[in-house]
Amino acid sequence: MNAVVYYSNTGQSRAVAEYLAERLGYRALDMEACGETRFGCLLTVFPVYCQNIPEAVCGFLETVTADCLIPVATFGKMSGGNVLWEIQRRYPQHTVIAGAYVPTKHSYLPDDPPFADYPLLEPLLDKVKAPSPIRFPKLRKNLFADATPALRSRLGVRLYRTEACDGCGLCTVRCPRSAIQGGIPNRNCIRCLRCVQECPRKALRVKLRLPLHLYLRKKRMTETVVYV
Ligand SMILES: Cc1cc2nc3c(=O)[nH]c(=O)nc-3n(C[C@H](O)[C@H](O)[C@H](O)COP(=O)(O)O)c2cc1C
Ligand code: SF4
Ligand code: SF4
Repeated sequence: MNAVVYYSNTGQSRAVAEYLAERLGYRALDMEACGETRFGCLLTVFPVYCQNIPEAVCGFLETVTADCLIPVATFGKMSGGNVLWEIQRRYPQHTVIAGAYVPTKHSYLPDDPPFADYPLLEPLLDKVKAPSPIRFPKLRKNLFADATPALRSRLGVRLYRTEACDGCGLCTVRCPRSAIQGGIPNRNCIRCLRCVQECPRKALRVKLRLPLHLYLRKKRMTETVVYV
């Protein structure tokens, strides 16, 4: 089957995936629930985390087979790292025919606008109709990006429960890392903020610590980069 499979914790990658799926007439599937392992044309949309590919996406790309692959990395306008090139190097079994870095709302910035320049993704749709292999260029990535990314996220973002929590346990069920119990995150938490997004009582709050707050005030990268 042809499909757009997304991994998304705060909805940005999902929105891009749903757009691409609708335009192509493919199904948009949640990576964690899709259950498929064999694809014809596979588009996969996911967020960049600390300039890296999320673990869940690595696991997915290791197990699936596809006739052709289009990885689409959403990022919060800070840096997409070098994730497309890394996908091609780590998973040479997939024939890559296109890809994109898509600047979106940053998970940690509530007022940041979401991606809206959908016409810029048109070349991806055309490439599906006339597939041919491509190679992604190697981009510059922060020297320390691979060093304990989860720890850096934990240190940068305070995540805490408020009195509104009624102990429903949904955050525990929905957390992709088994990292929260009764609204209290543990050391496995990567600060993806899915629990904050999905808590029915809006009982979880986020506070950026000063170094991350200052980092996120740096000049942002707003360019959509499409490779075909
Ligand atoms: C743990 C974490 C790390 C992130 N690291 C980066 C980053 O290195 N560069 C960047 O531009 N955005 C970064 N972001 C922002 C996300 O990549 C961006 O908001 C993405 O679109 C979120 O996708 P989602 O809503 O589908 O989960 C990070 C977000 C989180 C939660
Ligand atoms: S989902 Fe929200 S209300 Fe339910 S246990 Fe978690 S923090 Fe509390
Ligand atoms: S506890 Fe941490 S890892 Fe789990 S959903 Fe919440 S932010 Fe993500």
